[in-house]
Amino acid sequence: MKNSSVKKIAVLAGDGIGPEIMVEALKVLRKIEEIFEHKFEFIEGLIGGSAWEKYGEHFPKETVAIAESSEAILFGSVGGPIDKQMEPKWKNCETNSILAIRKKFNFNVNLRPVKLYSALKNSCVLRADIVEKGIDMLCVRELSQDVYFGKHDTSGDVGSRHAFDEMSYDEKVIEAIAHAAFKAAQLRKKKVTSVDKANVLNCSKLWREVVTGVAKNYPDCVLEHVLVDNMSMQVIRRPGDFDVILMPNMFGDIISDEVSVFAGSLGMLPSASLNAQGFGLYEPSSGSAPDIAGKGVANPIGQILSAAMMLKFSFGMNREHDAIVNAVEKTLMDGFRTGDIADGGKFVSTNEMGTRIAENLVKELLRG
Ligand code: IPM
Ligand code: MG
Repeated sequence: MKNSSVKKIAVLAGDGIGPEIMVEALKVLRKIEEIFEHKFEFIEGLIGGSAWEKYGEHFPKETVAIAESSEAILFGSVGGPIDKQMEPKWKNCETNSILAIRKKFNFNVNLRPVKLYSALKNSCVLRADIVEKGIDMLCVRELSQDVYFGKHDTSGDVGSRHAFDEMSYDEKVIEAIAHAAFKAAQLRKKKVTSVDKANVLNCSKLWREVVTGVAKNYPDCVLEHVLVDNMSMQVIRRPGDFDVILMPNMFGDIISDEVSVFAGSLGMLPSASLNAQGFGLYEPSSGSAPDIAGKGVANPIGQILSAAMMLKFSFGMNREHDAIVNAVEKTLMDGFRTGDIADGGKFVSTNEMGTRIAENLVKELLRG
């Protein structure tokens, strides 16, 4: 396939393990360029603590400009060590960078696929008889409202202080995310599990009503509603029963971390954040992991699979996406493991894992 147009990609590696796993994702993308005859232009920008060092800001205007002039954003991770959160470099780093960028581009749809590769069955925390059915779910998290973006305040004097965080939802916003969930379900097992707390919260009552209404447009899909507390239990008891899990921002944050362990490690997981115009940001779920940064032991797979999602959702490159997923699967089948998914297989560094995946890309295609 020949594609002469250059795809401009903002590369925001960030902090901690971000830069080292990003190198591996770019390595894989360069190989994709070569094999499929594409042209990618990577424009690097600083964000998070690394941006603060140079600009005294976590999301400087230089980085905003890079993101604005690109067709997609490949994001690493931001944030510093827990015990340094009060230092200016790290204070409110996540809010000022990742939440700011979500807000800036109005990313409202967050997709977090969680799949247990058969090669990693032994790394899964769940009992073998529970994972027998396989685990392959997609968390669809609303990303632009909820308690995250409501008013926040703390007032009063020590001893009698009061804090509040406002939770709110607009019907239109719920409608949009519900459509995204059903559309995704149509390409999968056609089941949507919507999570809320409709026995208590007004936001959730509205959520349930609107989602039920949207479901009427998708008669080929099954919809079920599950309360969030019950869901946190069901998803562990019977993970194989879930396909698309539709969630408001806060519950989506929590449940998506819960189910992420099913994949063997947080380091395995990619994500996509999309806006109504189809512009997207792609980031691994692993976070900046400052404790292992710079040691060459981080798992680059979540970042590599995020790059694959970018190819699919931003550029419609489905074959290229599948080629990367197959190469990851092959590398795992061959027994190669970073520390987080170690199960007695062959231990490899961050760099070696990336190289093997890139090499398997070639092999996959020659075979196919
Ligand atoms: C995530 C993260 C963020 C969130 C933090 C870093 C603000 O936990 O992407 O899930 O809560 O959305
Ligand atoms: Mg989270």
